[in-house]
Amino acid sequence: MSKVSALYPGSFDPPTNGHLDLIERGAKIFEELVVGILRNSEKIPMFSLAERFAMLKTLTAHLKNVRIETFHGLMVEYAKSIDATCVLRGIRAVSDYEYELQMALMNRKLEPTLETVFMMPADKYSYVSSRLVREVAQAGGPVKGLVPEVVEQKLREKLEPAYKLHDEMQQGTPGTWGGKELKKRKRKA
Ligand code: PNS
Repeated sequence: MSKVSALYPGSFDPPTNGHLDLIERGAKIFEELVVGILRNSEKIPMFSLAERFAMLKTLTAHLKNVRIETFHGLMVEYAKSIDATCVLRGIRAVSDYEYELQMALMNRKLEPTLETVFMMPADKYSYVSSRLVREVAQAGGPVKGLVPEVVEQKLREKLEPAYKLHDEMQQGTPGTWGGKELKKRKRKA
């Protein structure tokens, strides 16, 4: 049997523990796994392509059959150009299914020889998405356990003012929701 090369495409903005879990699972069943980061000029990402590339490179350094690349345009055309015969996508919950099915069928219409393979990340990551991680981090909230430590560090660096404000609020700085006013209101109630 010839070697099976798979493409795991996505935005990875930022990479989460769910993504990493899926990459590790994929690396076990495919001879070669290419993680393809979409270069999308329409969306302004939180992390630049170079940052996402560097984070994923670090996170997958222990997986010898995993390669990180970037692509733009049609995913099926890119998959063909790297001789991938499978596309790997993760399904976390029923809510993912409709979008993923639609995308898989459209991709099949565009390139019938390319198979989409769905895998589930560990259930502890079933609610983790890049969008929610960004939302929590933008409000200075904790993302420990949701993303790998290198990503957590990068989020803290990028969103330093949000984390600072959040920490001040936690410490009860006057004029903030955790501050004197709130405590006064609580005492009155
Ligand atoms: O991580 P995401 O944002 O869910 O990944 C979506 C991605 C990158 C897999 C999808 O948007 C994609 O393949 N884009 C490339 C353009 C393309 O081929 N579009 C047709 C999809 S049916």
